[in-house]
Amino acid sequence: MCEKKNISVCFTADQFDKFSDGKSTVVVVDLLRATSVISTAFMQGVKEIIPVQTLEEALFYKGKKGYIVAAERNAKPIDGFDYGNSPYHYINADVEGKILVLTTTNGTKAINNAKDHKVITASYINIDAVVQYLLKDNKDVIILCSGWKGFFNLEDPIFAGTLSNVLLDSNKFSSVCDSLFASIELMKNAGDNLFEYLSKSSHRKRLKSLNMEEDTRYCLSPPKKSDIIPILKGDRLIVL
Ligand code: MLT
Repeated sequence: MCEKKNISVCFTADQFDKFSDGKSTVVVVDLLRATSVISTAFMQGVKEIIPVQTLEEALFYKGKKGYIVAAERNAKPIDGFDYGNSPYHYINADVEGKILVLTTTNGTKAINNAKDHKVITASYINIDAVVQYLLKDNKDVIILCSGWKGFFNLEDPIFAGTLSNVLLDSNKFSSVCDSLFASIELMKNAGDNLFEYLSKSSHRKRLKSLNMEEDTRYCLSPPKKSDIIPILKGDRLIVL
């Protein structure tokens, strides 16, 4: 019987240095909306995604042939960029074969914080493929919730609870992480109607105030699933 692998949950990008071990596979989740956008962009044919930390880094690529530059701060799109951070930018859009340069408030920061590890990104769009990959990967796992500017958010830990619960049920993983067990309890408490449950979430309210409720609906209950797993290679995400 193979020894069980360990799994833990980190609640915010800023706390990652407490979990960093240089060997675990890190699963980054920013459910509303960065990792849902990343899954959608790859589904729609984007070739690579370069997550960057600043608006200036992203603007370097503005106007370059074959590149799309997308930026979000405080859930809002930024003037001067091709896109904001809605998954709908990529649906029925001419993005086939393009390279997306993306900077968001928390999600691209979380990816950067974990870049010394194997990093994959997850959302409800590709969760089934992520589960199958992690079961075969046979490595310890850290689920890195992006949170909001260093604070806990509701939606990322609910996703982490969904993913953790399935992995623990496989009997290939074990955990001693209270954040993980709290995430599972939160997921169970949330039930099946995440859109309703998250009506109290700060980021859902933020998106609602910007008339972006459809983005929230999409990210929580995506109409299509994908088997694409974005993995960080150097400075960019590619299709595993
Ligand atoms: C984030 O990075 O926190 C999110 O992607 C923000 C958003 O898109 O609303």
